Amino acid sequence: MTATGLPPSLLATLPGSAYTDPEVFTAEQQHLFEAMWFCAARLSDLDGPGAYRTVQIGRESVILTRNRAGQLRAFLNICRHRGARICTQDSGAVKRNFQCSYHAWTYDLDGKLIAAPNLTKMPDLDRVEYGLVTVQVKEWLGYLWVCLAAEPPSFAETVQQAVTERLGSLAAIDSYTIEALTVGRRIVYDVRANWKLIVENFMECYHCATIHPELTEVLPEFADGYAAQYYVGHGAAFGQDIQGFTVDGSPGFEPLPGLREDQDRRYYAITVKPQVFINLVPDHIIFHRMFPLAPDRTVVECDWLYTNEVVATGKDVSRSVELFHRVNQQDFDACERTQPAMSSRAYRDGGVLVPSEHHIEAFHQWVQASTGKFVPTSGCAKPED
Ligand code: FES
Ligand code: FE
Repeated sequence: MTATGLPPSLLATLPGSAYTDPEVFTAEQQHLFEAMWFCAARLSDLDGPGAYRTVQIGRESVILTRNRAGQLRAFLNICRHRGARICTQDSGAVKRNFQCSYHAWTYDLDGKLIAAPNLTKMPDLDRVEYGLVTVQVKEWLGYLWVCLAAEPPSFAETVQQAVTERLGSLAAIDSYTIEALTVGRRIVYDVRANWKLIVENFMECYHCATIHPELTEVLPEFADGYAAQYYVGHGAAFGQDIQGFTVDGSPGFEPLPGLREDQDRRYYAITVKPQVFINLVPDHIIFHRMFPLAPDRTVVECDWLYTNEVVATGKDVSRSVELFHRVNQQDFDACERTQPAMSSRAYRDGGVLVPSEHHIEAFHQWVQASTGKFVPTSGCAKPED
């Protein structure tokens, strides 16, 4: 037994309340989703000036758009007059400005206040000062990342560092040319589970043999329970008879141009905290973005990215989409089966991590250190009657 009261092969998880407590979730919104770089949209979702998307980031609704020069912009979705929400749709397009539907304050695509009833009678009103509140943006891998913090953390030391830590180098992801790929399919999952259950699930493969028959057929080493994320720089090898990363192992497409030889016939997985999963296979990318909306609800947008040639010529992507769609459904079902147990007395002090899951402890420690919430438990307390 160790000091925690657990045998050495086991580590404690977080207590159940970490997955249900609204106060914990608020702390996560404040210290994680509103403080870190958050991957909000694919650049192609904003296909021209005035095209917009609204997304929920932490406690804020954020408008993502392009200005007249095509540059990316992000604003808090709040009118500076008396606070009405500006955009009420998830996506759409405006011609040249955003107009509040309450008293018609009107903002250009850079957020500047350009018109309002009786504006000329308020010559002392600074139109930039009373413009929409701007949020910082960054482009990487063909995605729009935003940060609500006044002073964002270094993108290189957070987002890109996560890729380096997993793949061994940042250059290793460049050969997939993710920024040049096209969305061949997007599926949105509304998962009734806490976002941390989804992260933990993605980080381990102890469950693979039980719930992922198709995936373990393609990646036989996953049947042993050790996820690719357990090792630095490791990609899981395709099985000998497997021709492609498809639901039945049938051939996929040509490897992405520029792919290194040692990246062929391998699967790599990366977790970019707090809300992105990147899955690399030779001929496509599966890119997950989570939108945590409540302690027990997370919307996951999953993109399957292919070369423009594959998408433009209408090649059949269904067999490769079907593989990870099934994996997603199997994983999210497992998370939804777990969520109700988080409020059970049986899980009040949490559960345990087996050796192939030990790396998840670092994620727990990171959440805890970042939010200052929930203390480690002994992991061996008995439920009370
Ligand atoms: Fe938007 Fe009044 S609240 S114009
Ligand atoms: Fe899984």
